[in-house]
Amino acid sequence: MKTIKDVAHLAGVSVATVSRALNKSGYVSEKSSQKVEAAIKELDFYPNEVARSLFQKKSKLIGLLLPDISNPFFPLVAKGVEDKINEMGYNLILGNVQENRSKETEYIRAFAQNNVAGVLSAVESSSNDLKNMPFVMLDRVTSDKEYSVHSDDYQGGMLAATAVSERSPGQVVVMVGPRSISNSLVRLAGSVKVLEENQLSYQLFETESFQFDSAQKAAYQLFETFPDVASIIASNDIHALSVMREAIRRGLTIPTDVQVVGYDDNPYSKLMYPSLSTIAQPAYQIGYKGAEILCNRIAGLKIKEKNIQLPVELAIRESLRKKEK
Ligand code: RIB
Repeated sequence: MKTIKDVAHLAGVSVATVSRALNKSGYVSEKSSQKVEAAIKELDFYPNEVARSLFQKKSKLIGLLLPDISNPFFPLVAKGVEDKINEMGYNLILGNVQENRSKETEYIRAFAQNNVAGVLSAVESSSNDLKNMPFVMLDRVTSDKEYSVHSDDYQGGMLAATAVSERSPGQVVVMVGPRSISNSLVRLAGSVKVLEENQLSYQLFETESFQFDSAQKAAYQLFETFPDVASIIASNDIHALSVMREAIRRGLTIPTDVQVVGYDDNPYSKLMYPSLSTIAQPAYQIGYKGAEILCNRIAGLKIKEKNIQLPVELAIRESLRKKEK
């Protein structure tokens, strides 16, 4: 690997001049700058990022904490983050926390050791370490004291309950997402408001996690507990797809016997047959706009809007019955 000394020797300038040119710090004449660029090109030299970041006291890396990358919702958030930070000359370090506190602590330490320029997190982290660096919360926003981007969970809960209420609801079961995650409770509040306004009785079915490994068991338990369910408001698309599979396994027809509405609109929901109706979250935009705020904070620019809440939409597909006339 070529070194900064090789570049200086070929360019006929001092190592200090090459260093100033690389770090854009201090004066370098046009002539010397051109010689350094030519030498870098000829030697195919690239600076040691760790050395550069120590010099500049910040790296060109940005950390992203996600709860569970096996859930198709989160890679969409990561894509939005990556596209924006790449535009701004940064690269991503991803921390897949798998909803595990000790992994979260390890990743936060790794971010600090890599001298990241800032962090975005969709994990409801309580770690004080994150407060010591430019930080933006994504999706699971627990406080408006931090910069944040998420979508309107209350609107989403209302849209899901309205969709079901307008389509011969029968016995309604609302799957409650993990109560430890603030989004779950806000969505539930939106759904309950609409169901009660429509004088509809409903049952709550608690779920411990949003992850795949518990969804199938939850689906089985739901039908065991509520065998006559006719409408299911699921806590996310993974649970929605699992209850659809369980309904079909039990010989039920969707949506005639049981209609289902999910939450997220992950890429698999439209591929299911029948296709899943769901609440579409702007996952990519949550990531992209969060990264935009973070890059502006790192650059010391004024942030117009500290807490951004994006709208959600109802995606009507085959898992809902036809609207009553
Ligand atoms: O499916 C995962 C859920 O957790 C989504 O609804 C998303 O909002 C995240 O918080």
